[in-house]
Amino acid sequence: MIQIQHVSKIFERSGVKNQALKDISLEVSDGDIFGVIGYSGAGKSTLIRMVNALERPTSGKVIVDGTDVSAFNHRDLRKFKRKIGMIFQHFNLLESKTVFNNVGIPLVLERRSRKEIRERVVKLLDFVGLADKAGSYPDELSGGQKQRVGIARALALNPSILLCDEATSALDPKTTEQILELLKNINTKYQITILLITHEMGVIQKICNHVAVMEKGQIIEQGSVFELFRHPRQKTTRDFVGSIIHSDLSDSIRRQLISGSHVRTFKIEFISDSATRPLINDLIRQFDITVNIVSANMSEVQGKTIGHMIIMVNGNDSEVDAAAAFLAEQGTTVKEVSQ
Ligand SMILES: Nc1ncnc2c1ncn2[C@@H]1O[C@H](COP(=O)(O)OP(=O)(O)O)[C@@H](O)[C@H]1O
Ligand SMILES: [Mg+2]
Repeated sequence: MIQIQHVSKIFERSGVKNQALKDISLEVSDGDIFGVIGYSGAGKSTLIRMVNALERPTSGKVIVDGTDVSAFNHRDLRKFKRKIGMIFQHFNLLESKTVFNNVGIPLVLERRSRKEIRERVVKLLDFVGLADKAGSYPDELSGGQKQRVGIARALALNPSILLCDEATSALDPKTTEQILELLKNINTKYQITILLITHEMGVIQKICNHVAVMEKGQIIEQGSVFELFRHPRQKTTRDFVGSIIHSDLSDSIRRQLISGSHVRTFKIEFISDSATRPLINDLIRQFDITVNIVSANMSEVQGKTIGHMIIMVNGNDSEVDAAAAFLAEQGTTVKEVSQ
């Protein structure tokens, strides 16, 4: 478990103070894939670097598996760091070493035997799908392959925690998917707790179970990924969620709203099982109305479906009211959009 308790960090350079973190508290449970999202400069990297003591808090505590990281001396720290692997946006590989030797670095530093190093590296390369690249050099690899080397190296000492600093931000969407799949695999297969930071809500959506949103050095909102996607409270959170779930009316639809008179517009939100029922079909059959679906989208979040639809309904008021009430009875959230 990772506990960050009231952590603040002030950087000072030639007399100028810059507060990167302000009273941050969060808790990552064993087995979590915990995501921290925020725009550039929010303080994400500073925060994640606290967990493996690459940065020390100005005030507050960072407790990992019950021990206070900020209180460690040099020797304890080295021992402690075996527990934690880390991967980076730009992979941080040594260009002059082969893939095999890059992955072996943590083992060499621990003075493990040649035999043990060989066995472990072969196994890790196999796990990340790079068994045939052992003798290659980093500049002969694609971005995705480089990150796989980074991941293999991070796992070399069997850590219980993996830290990921924008690990997919330099990769194309398809490669991102593959690397996220691999991270999820690592989490379930080896029970490794993952703390990741990102500026992409798609990363949170695809693999995290818990999320914290950072802005200007503070956590402005946190919770389960599903709940946060359904009910984002802060403006920044809504913007991040909006990059995945398009539930707002576009300008062209708004213009139609103003010009159209007797047509009423509704926003419908539905989750999981109501997403698979033929709601609109039932609606048209049961009520004397016409329905025009203006937009519809569904997103998969933590194994559940969140759907949004905007419909324009034409009919007399009582019939349209009854239709809206029917939708609400079916477990959807219905909101009329005013003109
Ligand atoms: N070593 C440092 N010295 C001085 N300022 C720093 C240092 N590291 C980060 N900062 C500052 O802290 C703030 C947060 O940076 P960072 O944690 O890298 O944000 P993010 O990862 O969210 O982009 C920024 O204003 C940055 O300039
Ligand atoms: Mg960063």
